[in-house]
Amino acid sequence: MIDFQKLANDYGTPLYVYDAVEIRERIRRAREVFKGFNAGIVFALKANGNPALLKIMAQEGVGADVVSKGELLAAKMAGMKTIVWNGNGKCSSEREHFTNKGINYVSIDSFEELPLWDGVEIIKLLRVNPDVDARTHPHISTGLKSHKFGVPIEKIDRVADRIDGLHVHIGSQITEVAPFLDAYSKVLDCAKKYGFKYINLGGGWGIDYSGDSLDIEALKSGITALFSDYDGKLISELGRFIVGPAGYLVAGVVSVKHSDKVFVVTDAGMNTLIRPVLYDAHHRIRVLNGTGKTVTADVVGPLCESGDILARDRRLEIPIPGSAIVFENAGAYGFSMASNYNGMPLPAEILVDGKEVKLIRKRQSIEELFVNVKI
Ligand code: LLP
Repeated sequence: MIDFQKLANDYGTPLYVYDAVEIRERIRRAREVFKGFNAGIVFALKANGNPALLKIMAQEGVGADVVSKGELLAAKMAGMKTIVWNGNGKCSSEREHFTNKGINYVSIDSFEELPLWDGVEIIKLLRVNPDVDARTHPHISTGLKSHKFGVPIEKIDRVADRIDGLHVHIGSQITEVAPFLDAYSKVLDCAKKYGFKYINLGGGWGIDYSGDSLDIEALKSGITALFSDYDGKLISELGRFIVGPAGYLVAGVVSVKHSDKVFVVTDAGMNTLIRPVLYDAHHRIRVLNGTGKTVTADVVGPLCESGDILARDRRLEIPIPGSAIVFENAGAYGFSMASNYNGMPLPAEILVDGKEVKLIRKRQSIEELFVNVKI
């Protein structure tokens, strides 16, 4: 058990805390899904780009899905070997940078991008859009024709001889198996038709934020049946599934305000965890030191706008001001989407590995907010 209150006392709040043991366990579970296949796992750095976490993954043989020079540098710092470059806005100067650093796969997002890669020695995957509804939040759904990603799967005939394989990613936090299998089977049919030896299946496996999560065993059965006679290589590109449940946001309780509603005011705001306001996301809360009295409260941050809400209408024990509360499932798209809004420095990050506790990113200082400013 991680002693979050002690970590809050030792390192201050807000604080992101990650559990190395849980990360390794989740990688093991992901691998289990592809048992018996020629398959590799790459981690989507957008979910969490801290090189100390990436190093754990690299040691487990996990590669990287990167979308920027910054993410590429983090993957290299961590020693990640296999690298996939994704994105719908690549330009030729970036291509030089990425190919010089040695990457293995590129996911090409459009017919217009193809000429950028003609004659380049790299495994070329074309991202296809299977027109499948992932039935997740609209902002994180990507597999419908109306979305900006990929090319229509039925139109690849004219470019089939210029690519080595296909890539599909229909969205994130998907909790039903059917949309995955629907998309995978369309891509598999296409790969078989043209003899492609590589399929990147994307990410999107949903985790349990509020009782709903993807049935991994059912997904495994579906994948096993579907790909049983495919002898090419499969790539799985997971973000949230690997780090989401392994991360926590620890916030300090500043005060408990009683007005028309009860508001628990914390030192973490939408600058620290933007998912609740951006996607209406639900993060379970643990009160560490409570008064024994339960209320329905909004948990809010210190920023100057009404959207600065971390949890709405939550039944919880009133926490004691000065103590800490914990938001679960904050390991993915937590720190990586944090900002300096309202002049707030980025929080510190801690890695717990069994009995070992390590500061893996110092809290940003106020002065660091202005290092690039000239007046
Ligand atoms: N591959 C591609 C091409 C992606 O665009 C993504 C995520 C992934 C893999 C990893 O997906 P995952 O396994 O994490 O679902 N900020 C949002 C999530 C945005 C996901 C963007 N793409 C959130 O906080 O829910």
